[in-house]
Amino acid sequence: MNLRHLLEIPDLTAAEIQQVLTLSERPVASFGAPLSGQGVALIFEKPSNRTRHSMEMAVVQLGGHPVYTRGEEVGFDTRESVEDITRIMQGYHGVLAARVFHHDVVRRMAAVSAVPIVNMLSDHSHPLQGLADVLTMSQEWGSLADRTVAYVGDFNNVARSLSEACVMLGAHVRLGCPTGFDAPQAELTRIAGLGSGTIAQFVDPSVAVLGASAVHTDTWISMGQESQKAERREIFSAYQVTDTLMAGAAPGAVFMHCLPAYRGNEVAASVIDGPLSRVIQQGHNRMHSARGLLAFLLGARP
Ligand code: CP
Ligand code: NVA
Repeated sequence: MNLRHLLEIPDLTAAEIQQVLTLSERPVASFGAPLSGQGVALIFEKPSNRTRHSMEMAVVQLGGHPVYTRGEEVGFDTRESVEDITRIMQGYHGVLAARVFHHDVVRRMAAVSAVPIVNMLSDHSHPLQGLADVLTMSQEWGSLADRTVAYVGDFNNVARSLSEACVMLGAHVRLGCPTGFDAPQAELTRIAGLGSGTIAQFVDPSVAVLGASAVHTDTWISMGQESQKAERREIFSAYQVTDTLMAGAAPGAVFMHCLPAYRGNEVAASVIDGPLSRVIQQGHNRMHSARGLLAFLLGARP
């Protein structure tokens, strides 16, 4: 079996994303225990609720033993090098997963690892979230092909992975981002080339949501950007997902958010706590898609 990693969504082909989604909906018992007798390292340089718990439980469901470690305990490049940490841990574990400030750390891990490396969020991307997002939308609609998916806010790690997964599965992405916090043209071109879907970007959020069957957003202040809080709140104030914005999307459009959410900033409480919201299902899908992805990396196929 070829060694596979998930550093970003395009590490999978579109057909493989579909396979992961199929595996994600398979009953837990059907996998046997591919991680039996093996550990999975979960290293976190940043806080987490969903990613830690969903990955720990996915590992347990596949018969393995998760080992949670705080970033400062291993000290990437402070206590020892990323490469030494990886070469040692691969002798203990069947998979190594990390949430890091700098995407280059997971790239360097993958460059020397003999076991799969999973990016549990970096400054660049959040592929586990992207998988849960497309799983949730595929449960809603059956298929993403030719659906329109809007993302309103900062073009960040979550927006990148979501856009990649949607375009690969044939959806039409419409980004609504303030100037200076938007996707560079080269990034739009790269993502457009990933699949049969399309991607377009708008400054006006009410234009971005036109025709959208799902409206996504994320925090305006990602982990590590806390010092920019006041400035970002002002810049993004016109980008709140409100009932009015949702009313401008396609009839029956759902609201999605990777969480944690900040009500009154990127989303109105009436939207995230209302009938259009799918955020709890989306959060629960983090576990199902993590299980599907881990099983895939370990060789399972539908
Ligand atoms: N969505 C997400 O990754 O949540 P956590 O930061 O709680 O893991
Ligand atoms: N963009 C956010 C996502 C949190 C799950 C961050 O990086 O903090």
